[in-house]
Amino acid sequence: MQPIHSYSPARRSAANAPAVVDKAMDAQFRAQAGQMGLDPDDRWVGGYVGVEWQGVRHLIEAYAGNVDGAALLEFGCNYAASSIVAATLGASVTAIDVDPGAIALARLNCARYGVADRVDLRHLPDTRRLPFADASFDIILCISVLEYVAPDHLPAVLAEIDRVLKPGGLIIVSGTASRLAPREVHSGRWLVNYWPRAIDRWLLRREPMQRGVNPLPILRAFRRYTNVDLEDRGQSWCRARTAMGQSSAKLRLARALASLTRPFGLSIGMAGSSFSATWRKPA
Ligand SMILES: C[S@@+](CC[C@H](N)C(=O)[O-])C[C@H]1O[C@@H](n2cnc3c(N)ncnc32)[C@H](O)[C@@H]1O
Repeated sequence: MQPIHSYSPARRSAANAPAVVDKAMDAQFRAQAGQMGLDPDDRWVGGYVGVEWQGVRHLIEAYAGNVDGAALLEFGCNYAASSIVAATLGASVTAIDVDPGAIALARLNCARYGVADRVDLRHLPDTRRLPFADASFDIILCISVLEYVAPDHLPAVLAEIDRVLKPGGLIIVSGTASRLAPREVHSGRWLVNYWPRAIDRWLLRREPMQRGVNPLPILRAFRRYTNVDLEDRGQSWCRARTAMGQSSAKLRLARALASLTRPFGLSIGMAGSSFSATWRKPA
């Protein structure tokens, strides 16, 4: 395996875009999605891998460079779209999720893209304890997932992520709804992030509404780590977003905001309605 370069210049991936190669598995995927009440042609179902090829791929390339042979864990893989992208780039992927239905569909998704041998999918009902040895992974991806972890589970989950990451390894957190934002990004509700969950149950008499996750405990959990976005002053972050097609006006705004938040230890990408950050574990 090539060394993992946490902030090396991004290289264009030699890998071709993932393509559906197994028609029989594709038919099974579509049938299974239908049985689950999902539209197989939806961009977040059948089109999900294409979305992440234009998204997560650029994060992986900007922060990790060449991942050929790297051991990569996707925490909260859903239908394994990002895992399929990482496997296409050459990583040896382990993908976990608490939802057995998502894992079942992910299995068919990997099979139709022809990467089933490079993605080890596991349904884990409780991710506070991960069935992996210490220092198992070079890279851990947490894409749009930490806000779904029950708040009282989060400290244990973050401790496990720390345990299973190799010294010198990377944690890439991205697309994570922030509880500091006035508008909750998934539901579009204003101010819901600012009132306690207990109000939902006791005052409104309903199931707790979706909230973002507070980034501060996550920053604390990785305080021994190097924040790559602070270290390289947002270069990798901007490179990834440029490759994703973000406008230069938005990038300028993000850079300007980051110059204000940097003295407080907040890197670029921490201030929005969803946040992102990449850390490197001490070697
Ligand atoms: C929006 S999806 C993740 C998307 C995916 N990571 C990607 O790259 O597009 C959120 C996933 O997190 C999973 N999830 C929720 N709580 C979890 C937990 N405690 N541990 C692991 N996965 C969890 C859900 O089942 C769901 O599949």
